[in-house]
Amino acid sequence: MSPLPFLILLLISLPFQVISQNHSTADEHTILLKLKQQLGNPPSLQSWNSTSSPCDWPEIVCTGNSVTEILLPSKNITQKIPATICDLKNLTTLNLGDNFISGEFPRQLYNCTKLQVLNLSLNHFVGPIPDDIDRISGLRFLRLGYNNFSGDIPPAIGRLSE
Ligand SMILES: *[C@@H]1O[C@H](CO)[C@@H](O)[C@H](O)[C@H]1NC(C)=O
Ligand SMILES: *[C@@H]1O[C@H](CO)[C@@H](O)[C@H](O)[C@H]1NC(C)=O
Ligand SMILES: *[C@@H]1O[C@H](CO)[C@@H](O)[C@H](O)[C@H]1NC(C)=O
Ligand SMILES: *[C@@H]1O[C@H](CO)[C@@H](O)[C@H](O)[C@H]1NC(C)=O
Ligand SMILES: *[C@@H]1O[C@H](CO)[C@@H](O)[C@H](O)[C@H]1NC(C)=O
Ligand SMILES: *[C@@H]1O[C@H](CO)[C@@H](O)[C@H](O)[C@H]1NC(C)=O
Ligand SMILES: *[C@@H]1O[C@H](CO)[C@@H](O)[C@H](O)[C@H]1NC(C)=O
Repeated sequence: MSPLPFLILLLISLPFQVISQNHSTADEHTILLKLKQQLGNPPSLQSWNSTSSPCDWPEIVCTGNSVTEILLPSKNITQKIPATICDLKNLTTLNLGDNFISGEFPRQLYNCTKLQVLNLSLNHFVGPIPDDIDRISGLRFLRLGYNNFSGDIPPAIGRLSE
């Protein structure tokens, strides 16, 4: 077989590879802008716009072009945590400490399959610490202090193996 068809195939597929390489970043940009909107466009997130790259935003940490950390301590956030956040498939760290978030423990975070660090301290959360919290199986740092959680510490805490 002559190498020519291969060469042609390579030349055709190259541009697609270049486009698809940062396709996920474009997706994550869209997800973050949606997230900002769902959080009620807090003035503290002014730098989150469509022209700047998310990896350059002070509240975002990227690893290999993909969003891995969202750091939003003391941002005057009042809205509940949108389920959209788990569309960021590589998210490992979420810090929402020192905000004004109310309601029950955000079980929607169970869909953040790579989550390792969760800081919800200093908010207005109420109700029980869920008895299936170990569904965030990779969790290794959990901060829930200074809220209004009630009830016992569930055995599920002890099943978090990390
Ligand atoms: C991919 O990145 C390049 C350079 O960083 C940029 O010019 C291009 O618009 C990006 N493409 C997409 C689909 O985001
Ligand atoms: C949060 O709100 C308070 C009171 O309105 C304001 O002084 C403070 O600058 C705000 N913080 C941020 C990060 O926007
Ligand atoms: C977008 O945000 C960046 C900082 O992240 C800022 O420098 C730039 O001026 C903003 N652009 C617009 C159109 O608001
Ligand atoms: C998550 O990270 C992996 C490895 O760094 C990468 O291959 C993948 O594209 C990332 N996923 C997204 C949605 O960016
Ligand atoms: C968790 O959030 C609280 C409140 O912002 C902060 O004091 C603390 O340092 C945070 N801990 C970590 C490890 O991020
Ligand atoms: C996780 O995502 C799936 C699919 O989007 C959804 O059906 C499910 O309710 C979510 N689970 C939680 C705990 O939010
Ligand atoms: C904490 O929550 C309990 C119910 O779960 C409620 O009775 C109590 O008033 C709350 N306390 C504060 C300070 O919000």
